[in-house]
Amino acid sequence: MSAASVFFALLFYAAAAVLLAGIALRVADYARTPAPLKIPTTPAPRTRGGVALRLAREVVFFESLFKGSVWTWIFGWLFHASLLLVLVRHLRYFTEPVWSWVVLVQPLGILVAFGMAIGLAGLLARRILVERIRYISVPSDYLMLALLLAIAGSGLAMKYVFRTDIVAVKAFFLGLLRFDWQPLPADPMLYIHLALVAALMIVFPFSKLLHVPGLFFSPSRNQADDPREARHLAPWAADLERGR
Ligand code: HEM
Repeated sequence: MSAASVFFALLFYAAAAVLLAGIALRVADYARTPAPLKIPTTPAPRTRGGVALRLAREVVFFESLFKGSVWTWIFGWLFHASLLLVLVRHLRYFTEPVWSWVVLVQPLGILVAFGMAIGLAGLLARRILVERIRYISVPSDYLMLALLLAIAGSGLAMKYVFRTDIVAVKAFFLGLLRFDWQPLPADPMLYIHLALVAALMIVFPFSKLLHVPGLFFSPSRNQADDPREARHLAPWAADLERGR
């Protein structure tokens, strides 16, 4: 085992620990935070089933973004849908045998890789070119887009220019999962791709990317419009009322 293989093995264990523990702690925090007000964005569903459907539409179609800005929706949805398929395609590096539905999406490789890059480029152009968006953009907004673009770029470069031994890459990651370490191919573009991915995993729980679990905890989206049927009272407000 080369020093680089050991470095990447340790890096991915650390990155996975930060990602999983970080998200778990954030989600626990979100779940404990009471919503002080009844504040669903109206028109809103009046039942819990309706709320579930509304959230599902938000997750799958980005419904409220579509109503807000069609251009942002086009690039945002393209990026996320492509990312999903890119990640599903990558499952082949972590499973043996490869699941049949993962095999099914493999031919979409080039399409979704470019879909991801075009979506990200559009979102970056929006931050730079639309004056009122540029005004509210902070360095981390650019950093996340740049990081994701660099991951897509290095992945594409590996696929088409600096090819690596993907069978050995798979053996390395299966080895990590089974605690039976295997060597990683010594290819600089692979090192770059993996280092960027590890960086993404580590910053995720501290970044705006928390909107992924956060969406489900957004009171304006997850509340039913039923304040006439049942009075909304946050636990701390109930305590206050009882004079505690
Ligand atoms: C530990 C996790 C990862 C490993 C082992 C990995 C490995 C690879 C490899 C070996 C390739 C080249 C495929 C080929 O030659 O056919 C590739 C391509 C690519 N990777 Fe990754 N990658 C990882 C995570 C990610 C993540 C998180 C993203 C996106 C955020 C990503 C985006 C891409 C893209 C867009 C391509 C080019 C298109 C494709 O082959 O799907 N990768 N990756």
